[in-house]
Amino acid sequence: MVVKFDLIAAACENMGIGKNKDLPWRLKSEMAFFTRMTSETVDKNKKNVVLMGRRTWDCIPPKFKPLTGRINFVMSRAGVDVEGNKDCYSFGSLEEVMDKLENGEFKEQYENVWVIGGSNIYEETMKSKYFHRLYLTKIMKHFDCDTFFPKINDGLVKVSDPRVPEDLQEENGIQFVYNIYENPNFNK
Ligand SMILES: NC(=O)c1ccc[n+]([C@@H]2O[C@H](COP(=O)([O-])OP(=O)(O)OC[C@H]3O[C@@H](n4cnc5c(N)ncnc54)[C@H](OP(=O)(O)O)[C@@H]3O)[C@@H](O)[C@H]2O)c1
Repeated sequence: MVVKFDLIAAACENMGIGKNKDLPWRLKSEMAFFTRMTSETVDKNKKNVVLMGRRTWDCIPPKFKPLTGRINFVMSRAGVDVEGNKDCYSFGSLEEVMDKLENGEFKEQYENVWVIGGSNIYEETMKSKYFHRLYLTKIMKHFDCDTFFPKINDGLVKVSDPRVPEDLQEENGIQFVYNIYENPNFNK
């Protein structure tokens, strides 16, 4: 089985994804979608990996950390202490992440790899040949943001996934839509 990076993100009209170390919006149903997509596995003996940057890790409230039912991978060059957290690993580079994902014994434990942000980690994994899909929730409203989704390659192809609703979503008067883009150069 070849490693696949599926990115999952929510961005508003200006492609903003974060503000003051937090999400700029509160959308419970979108958060539930994120949890379902990143947690679900076909093989119930396996879990998914969620790959994130250290700042995204810091943004997760302590009571939700590590993200339950998933294997948490945290990237930090400076070093981050994840000791004591079950199903949690830290890595200093994407090469180190790949070494772990391609390790024969570890391969038996996980099903999908979900890249959950932030900016740097999305950018780096989108450049990788293992970048498979981007699951992007487009929020149809402007929010003031200080963190943005990186430039998306023009060559991505819009696809559908039976697990993802295609109709317009709405919560608290905020409209959003789930879009999926596939990398035609995946694993080439
Ligand atoms: N809307 C969304 O879907 C979404 C998703 C995720 C996050 N967010 C938001 O985005 C913000 C956080 O994201 P961010 O872009 O500021 O930070 P981030 O990407 O989560 O974390 C950046 C940190 O990751 C580490 N890092 C980055 N590239 C690395 C590499 N190649 N190798 C090793 N370590 C690496 C570094 O950690 P060290 O400094 O420790 O070396 C770097 O400072 C928050 O506001 C959060 O709420 C939004």
